[in-house]
Amino acid sequence: MTPPANDPAVPWWTGGVIYQVYPRSFADANGDGIGDLAGVMAHLDHLAGTRDSLGVDAVWLSPIYPSPLADFGYDISDFTDVAPEFGTLADLDRLVEACHARGLRLLLDLVPCHTSIHHPWFVESRSSRSSAGRDWYTWADPAPGGGPPNNWISSFGGSAWELDPASGQYYLHTFYREQPDLNWRNPEVADAISGVLRFWFERGVDGFRVDAIIHAIKDSQLRDNPPAGGPIPPFPPDPSGHDPVFTVDRPEVPEVIRLLRRVANEYPGRLLIGEAYLPVERLARYLGDGAGDGFQRAFDFELSVIPWGAEPLRSTIERAERFTPPDVEPTWALSNHDLSRHATRFGEERSRLAALLLLSMRGTLCLYAGEEIGMVDGPEAATSLHDRFGRDRQRTPMQWDASPTGGFTDGDPWLPLVDPEERNVADQSRDPGSLLSQYRRLLALRRGSAALRDGALSLVHDLPPDLLAWTRTADGERVLMVANLGDAPVTVDLSGIGSQADVVAGTGSRQGSQPLANLQLDPLEGLLLRLWKAACLRSVL
Ligand code: GLC
Repeated sequence: MTPPANDPAVPWWTGGVIYQVYPRSFADANGDGIGDLAGVMAHLDHLAGTRDSLGVDAVWLSPIYPSPLADFGYDISDFTDVAPEFGTLADLDRLVEACHARGLRLLLDLVPCHTSIHHPWFVESRSSRSSAGRDWYTWADPAPGGGPPNNWISSFGGSAWELDPASGQYYLHTFYREQPDLNWRNPEVADAISGVLRFWFERGVDGFRVDAIIHAIKDSQLRDNPPAGGPIPPFPPDPSGHDPVFTVDRPEVPEVIRLLRRVANEYPGRLLIGEAYLPVERLARYLGDGAGDGFQRAFDFELSVIPWGAEPLRSTIERAERFTPPDVEPTWALSNHDLSRHATRFGEERSRLAALLLLSMRGTLCLYAGEEIGMVDGPEAATSLHDRFGRDRQRTPMQWDASPTGGFTDGDPWLPLVDPEERNVADQSRDPGSLLSQYRRLLALRRGSAALRDGALSLVHDLPPDLLAWTRTADGERVLMVANLGDAPVTVDLSGIGSQADVVAGTGSRQGSQPLANLQLDPLEGLLLRLWKAACLRSVL
């Protein structure tokens, strides 16, 4: 199965847009209340291939593998199969083909740092201290006085060590105790995960989002983490009050990435995007040296944790522009399956402007299914119906229509829907003023504009406090993004950029040519303006 044609000089992910699907919650084709691959297949028109599609470049499926569901898909018991509730390998093959037929790429989730306790590798490793697979995971004796070997904590709380009573040793788990950490110091583990990559690449998969990579390697001497207070605070903050210097972002992690990338390089045009919750200053090491030995992209998650406001956003972009290596672009997402949805976090009234900001940023973008219709988190009471870490609220089923089960299922949905009658794809598709229509327009604009897709970004300085503006420039085309993130009207003089510019998109109904010397913006209004003339003149002179 050949992926769609790719220009190696400008790969599709340059300025590309990826749509994240949490498969349990996207669309259920067989009525068991759980989303599945056939459901994704049935909704590909929403993503690409028709005039009314969003027109994204790729779809990323969160894990589709067999999982006992301690971590809802991220505790995997077989890396090279499809969970029965999602379908079969044949369904996946059909999906790859259907995506490619409409020019869409399919990315999977690679979870290389841990398995389920039920994975045969761990079953073998746990079977005895002398098991041939013992060293595939990290085992350690109790501390001298008893108890866990050191003070490392799990990202989900409590000690990162679990006692295995049969052998008297502890195993390491960065996440739930049902997710033992693989030992990447063991070359057999590297070989096994390389085999997993090749298995999916051979089936035509176009790449992977690589899970939790900052945790791939820990200190070989198992030293205690010191109290917090280091030069760069942990990000997100470590609840234990320790600085996770011996467990997170170790110097050897780029070695692991190099190995993964070497395998990906055997298959032209495949993408690896790292999930790395780190300040952008520390991401460059994950992106290699430009010679094809790091991830092509790594998420900058600052956008999903900063408060709403022109200054936080300006400084996030400014730092990303400064610290992202020159041959790479930032990778942005406002929401994902782990974090509160941005319509809830920022406030629903800001969704329209948030979309305009995101879709005019420089970089590879990732949309989380449902954000295009303004989906909000489920109610507090639905926080931990399934997920012990409380992430059910952002994983509620996609709302396709106004029926009680939102067109997601004919059965009993695995998580309750939030408000399908309020917001759904069917209604918003018919309404040119809807958020969905705005996403479609902005995505179409981005696809058709070299400046918006991969043009240079230059922040405009010295603006009134609630204003944010930047230009995107490429091939003689120049687009100005200007936004008022505040709740009061603002007037600004942008005559330094040009005298007049044409509105090409906006959060409201404003159209036509605007005087940049005296531009008035309503509260939460954002505009994209095209500055053709100045740019053309300059290129003629
Ligand atoms: C990543 C996933 C998250 C999961 C964790 C452990 O952060 O996004 O959902 O719980 O890794 O695999």
